[in-house]
Amino acid sequence: MKDVIIACDFASAEETFRFLDRFGELRPYVKIGMELYYAEGPQIVRELKRRGHKIFLDLKLHDIPNTVKKAMSVLSRLDVDMCNLHAAGTIAMMEAAREGLTRADGSRPILLAVTQLTSTSEERMHEDLLIEGKIGDVVVHYAQNARKAGLDGVVCSPLEAGMVKAACGKDFLTVTPGIRFADGAVGDQVRVTTPVQAREIGTDFIVVGRPITAAENPVAAYKRCLAEFVG
Ligand code: C5P
Repeated sequence: MKDVIIACDFASAEETFRFLDRFGELRPYVKIGMELYYAEGPQIVRELKRRGHKIFLDLKLHDIPNTVKKAMSVLSRLDVDMCNLHAAGTIAMMEAAREGLTRADGSRPILLAVTQLTSTSEERMHEDLLIEGKIGDVVVHYAQNARKAGLDGVVCSPLEAGMVKAACGKDFLTVTPGIRFADGAVGDQVRVTTPVQAREIGTDFIVVGRPITAAENPVAAYKRCLAEFVG
């Protein structure tokens, strides 16, 4: 189950395929975000599926329950493996999303909730969003709401994954970006862990972008991530 997901933060399908072609027979799990999806549309998902990749479609839905339910049913037909929404949309929205995602045969992609974005500081959460308390408590509360709504897990910082597992159970998935090699550049990420630390914390999937996409040898960097995280 544990896996390394490469964040394909590219501007076009052409750039994405040029990058993935370097992996030869390897078919890494990939994350498609808003930039690539809005640029290329559902065809990029179909083409990557055809090539044999598993796909985390990171579109972070947040709207009224009925709209999210219908949008999720479209994503389900696209046959993505994992998708997500904002827990801030309420338990009712998350339940509607889960229903929309569920296919006639009862199967569905993994559904994750984003709790508080890691770009939101505790100060901004208090002053801009008028949410009181510790940000860690809010993350855990949102994760518990996601669990109540029948979701599979959350996207969170590796440093929050332990708290989420303690509150929601070890089977509740944590998918964690903010991964850097011990000897690598941190870039704009603030709270980072290495793949080895992420494994020790017990997170289920790591999402890795620039340490692989900007590496001189992306395939070697991907294999190093797999070796350190999955073993
Ligand atoms: O290049 P890097 O490894 O920092 O990429 C991390 C990926 O995870 C990016 O696609 C980024 O948008 C995403 N992400 C994140 N922090 C979050 C949620 C998503 O870095 N809290």
